[in-house]
Amino acid sequence: MAPDKLRVLISEERIQARITELGKQIREEYGDAPITCIGVLKGSFMFMADLVRAIGGDVRCEFLGVSSYHGGTRSTGVVRITEDLRNPVEGQHCLIIEDIVDTGLTLDYLNRMLAVRGPRSLKACALLDKPAHREVAVDAHYVGFSIPDEFVVGYGLDLGERFRNLPHIAVYTP
Ligand code: IMP
Repeated sequence: MAPDKLRVLISEERIQARITELGKQIREEYGDAPITCIGVLKGSFMFMADLVRAIGGDVRCEFLGVSSYHGGTRSTGVVRITEDLRNPVEGQHCLIIEDIVDTGLTLDYLNRMLAVRGPRSLKACALLDKPAHREVAVDAHYVGFSIPDEFVVGYGLDLGERFRNLPHIAVYTP
C-alpha cells in the first residue's frame, strides 16, 4: 500500500498566532459580554479549545454534533444533526465555531437552525475557508485562513477519522 501523502499547509505556529489574534478581536468586539461558543463536532474540537482560551472572559461552551461527510473527501450535501445543544441559547450572544467552511451547506443549515432559537446575536468563526468551493452564499464573520480548494486534514480535521491529532493543517493527496 502506498504511504499517505501529506504536505504541511499551515504550521502549528501560524495557527496559534492567528488564534491569538482572532481571540483578541472577538473579545474586543463583544466587550465584557458573555459569549456562548457553539463548537461543531467533531472537526472544531481542537480549534474551539484554543480559541475559547484566546477569547478569555465570560465564555460558555456548547457543542453540536453534525455529520456532512461520510468518510470520503467529497461532501454528500446532506447535513445531519447527530447531537443537539444541551442548553437553550435564547437571549445569548452565540458564536458558531467551525473547523472549515467548504460548500457552506453546514453553516447555512446551522444559521437557520439556531436563528429560530432566539439568540441575542449569531455569528460564526471558522478556522479555514475554502471560498472556491461554495455552493451556498454564506460566510463566517471571523476566518482564520482562506485556503485553496484542496482537501486538508489535521488540527481536528479528518479523513475517515484519521489525522485529527496533527498539530498543523496538511493537504492530503490520495
Ligand atoms: P461544508 O458543509 O461543505 O461547508 O463543509 C462542512 C464540513 O465538511 C466541515 O465542518 C468539515 O468537517 C468537512 N470538510 C470540508 N472540507 C474539508 C476538508 O478539506 N477536510 C476535512 N473536512 C472537510
